[in-house]
Amino acid sequence: MILLEAQNLHSGYGEMEILHGVSMRLDSQEIVTIIGPNGAGKSTLIKTIFGLLRPTAGQVTFKGLDITGKPPRDLVLDGLAYVPQSNNTFPSLTVLENLEMGAITRRASPIPMPWNRSRGSATSPRMMNDSQIRRRAIETIALFPNLRPKLRERAGNLSGGEQQMVALAKSMMLDPDILLIDEPSAGLAPKLVDMVFSKIVEINGSGTSVVMVEQNAKKALAIANRGYILETGRNRYEGAAKELLQNTDVAKLYLGG
Ligand SMILES: Nc1ncnc2c1ncn2[C@@H]1O[C@H](COP(=O)(O)OP(=O)(O)OP(=O)(O)O)[C@@H](O)[C@H]1O
Ligand SMILES: [Mg+2]
Repeated sequence: MILLEAQNLHSGYGEMEILHGVSMRLDSQEIVTIIGPNGAGKSTLIKTIFGLLRPTAGQVTFKGLDITGKPPRDLVLDGLAYVPQSNNTFPSLTVLENLEMGAITRRASPIPMPWNRSRGSATSPRMMNDSQIRRRAIETIALFPNLRPKLRERAGNLSGGEQQMVALAKSMMLDPDILLIDEPSAGLAPKLVDMVFSKIVEINGSGTSVVMVEQNAKKALAIANRGYILETGRNRYEGAAKELLQNTDVAKLYLGG
């Protein structure tokens, strides 16, 4: 079943168009990876899907419903979560506080802030009361046992790999149907890259479908079902991850030989 589909997206920043008609889809239970050189538009694609950028043309659907341009605060209630490429934790908060912040957009009684006003008394089935949030934190920590001894430490004091785990755990507080992750392995040593990727496989196994942007193309394809290669804001190659890994042109151009 198609869970998420982007069709012919045109998007960018101000007058500057970066995506010139990009399409991709995510089927239920899949891991799909988006790869391609620096500046190809990978982050722009994921930001456009998550409603951080509004496309000038094209469509995004989630479970068959049009979500094009829908704001992130509504998309998290639909079941999407997004882990940005950088600045994806609150460094001065503890790990536990980061997890709590992860669920704040699903809190049934939102903190009275201006951006919550428009939501009024929204009653989404995905809203959680405080005891449900605590229960979700316990489930999430079970998925990230390495973080358990660090719950009271400030996230900013943890290693790069641990911080990436905090970012993933924070987003898993939403118990999303889809996790959109931008370069989870960026800046990590090879051993930590493997650790983060195996955690993503575990997250996927727990029932969350994953779209993952990656520079580490070979390793990303090794855990993905399918992949898309973008270049200069356009689709270049797509297919089963195994086939992309075996494609000699793809290997030469995008996988370092
Ligand atoms: N906030 C922004 N304002 C203006 N231009 C931007 C902005 N963010 C990105 N760009 C430009 O958009 C283009 C695509 O950027 P994008 O971040 O989507 O690439 P990417 O494929 O994610 O690259 P990388 O692998 O380096 O993360 C680049 O030319 C970049 O300079
Ligand atoms: Mg990027």
